[in-house]
Amino acid sequence: MQATAIAQPNIALVKYWGKRDLKKNLPAVGSISVTLSDLETEMSVSLHAQQRHDSLSINGDNSDAMLPRVSKALDAIIGKKRPRATVASRSNFPIAAGLASSASAFAALAVAAANASGQSLSVEALSRHAGHASGSAARSLFGGFVELKNSADSINVSQLCAAEEWPLRVVVAITELGPKAVGSSEAMEISRKTSPFYDDWVARQEDDLDVARCAIESRDFDSLAAVSEHSCLKMHSVMWASRPPLVYWNASTMRCMQTVRALQDKGIKVFFTIDAGPQLKAVCESDHVDIVQEALHATDGVIDVICTSLGGGARQVASS
Ligand code: PMV
Repeated sequence: MQATAIAQPNIALVKYWGKRDLKKNLPAVGSISVTLSDLETEMSVSLHAQQRHDSLSINGDNSDAMLPRVSKALDAIIGKKRPRATVASRSNFPIAAGLASSASAFAALAVAAANASGQSLSVEALSRHAGHASGSAARSLFGGFVELKNSADSINVSQLCAAEEWPLRVVVAITELGPKAVGSSEAMEISRKTSPFYDDWVARQEDDLDVARCAIESRDFDSLAAVSEHSCLKMHSVMWASRPPLVYWNASTMRCMQTVRALQDKGIKVFFTIDAGPQLKAVCESDHVDIVQEALHATDGVIDVICTSLGGGARQVASS
């Protein structure tokens, strides 16, 4: 009763921020993302009838902090009367730093847990399980360009376009290591309750989703760039206007934005997006990836730069 799965993080272009149902962890808005390829989380789940408690290790270290979330996800996928599990997670990129590590972790956990317990679930069902644990994780079940739509009391996730059909690149500029100050679930509730812009943010989301969907369908880079940067800055405006304010950027995040603007002025096909953390993600056409990478690397305060293609969805692998 053991299974291993791999999933990649995804980066939202039209962002999700806020929940409409806390208990079911349902997002207030739909979203559109790209799944990455070179960053990944490998998750293995072994079920043991004799074991009394679940255990979790992350990159080789025991993690009691994340264990309750993992146990809750296992209860939902396998059932509350399940055998206890030994769960081991390994990521090849910094975790809890705004690089969507919970997305890849819970997407991989959904696949590994279902397989370890002998269930053959559809990718849609797996994505709902992953989304229950972490809103953005639902999107990492699919590769390429992915849309999450809200339905009456659930979510529907689907692929809009495969990675090979529009092989854009993503360059991640790391400007700070270490966990973020406020986790996204807590921060979303602060915004919902206190940001004067929150209702408008929710009300206008469909417009951005329509524009992004059309841009992806017609491979219109400029249109996708404009709507993605707008969605990112709008989400951060909601955060900044919250009480207490939620400011995830540092000075180098701003400098990276200026670097992207300077590249755009030279005709380079690139745009930025930033999640609940200080890292900037630059999305660009593949011909321009070297120049984008060099420019971000040379930006003051950038610690490291990770360059990746777009990739596929979560999948089972042979146990290592
Ligand atoms: O999946 P969560 O609950 O950690 O929320 C992620 C929210 C953002 O990354 C900021 C935006 C998004 O759509 O991924």
